[in-house]
Amino acid sequence: MEIKVFDSVQKVGQAAAMIFAAQLMKNPRSVLGLATGSTPIPTYQQLIALYQEGLVDFSQAQSYNLDEYCGLSHEHVCSYYYFMHEQLFDHINIAKDAVHVPSGMAQDFDAECKGYDAAIAKAGGVDLQLLGIGRNGHIAFNEPDACFTHGTHVVSLTKSTIQANRRFFDSEDQVPTRAITMGVGSIMAARQILLLATGEDKAEAIRDTVKGDITPQVQASILRTHPNVVVLLDREAASLL
Ligand code: GLP
Repeated sequence: MEIKVFDSVQKVGQAAAMIFAAQLMKNPRSVLGLATGSTPIPTYQQLIALYQEGLVDFSQAQSYNLDEYCGLSHEHVCSYYYFMHEQLFDHINIAKDAVHVPSGMAQDFDAECKGYDAAIAKAGGVDLQLLGIGRNGHIAFNEPDACFTHGTHVVSLTKSTIQANRRFFDSEDQVPTRAITMGVGSIMAARQILLLATGEDKAEAIRDTVKGDITPQVQASILRTHPNVVVLLDREAASLL
């Protein structure tokens, strides 16, 4: 695990965007694993700027997002599908049919989960996976648990995650209580992983991920067993290391 600490949130975003740009330059047909939340927004802004300058080309790339809330349609402003289009896809030249977000409105979630894993496998697996981290050490929506889950699955969100994500909704009772998420096994299958964390409220999760036990109670801790993980932090998120 390679850890880099930067002076500002903006620099974390710039550094992450540089890694994505390098990946796309090396392989324009890259399969990108993308994440939602506030943390990757500066990365997406930098990627849009690099695209506008003609330095990054997404025309042959594919993307797979980590997760989605159950019960929110593509048109819902709080859905991750909507977020990704608003924050990134609508501003770059990625093909419409090359972007994938698990469906929160599936009739049959079991089939949706199996189909999502099969699609990633058929695409050749994820080349570069972007991750944020929850305050309780969750990655995607893999909450603290007794075990690590392999593939895409449906989860119940913890109270702390619902409270943390409440800021995007009008009220706490509007935050969905379930989500569909790639499993830790699917995340670990990516060839390279880029974990971002910014702000003081991520400091404990980062300390536990980097220095604590490798345990499903801190799902991100398993990243230490992956051969190619880069962690980009601002000073606040790194303050307990
Ligand atoms: C949600 C997402 C995660 C994300 C986390 C932290 O739970 N499912 O992928 O890492 O929020 O979000 P933020 O970056 O807004 O703190």
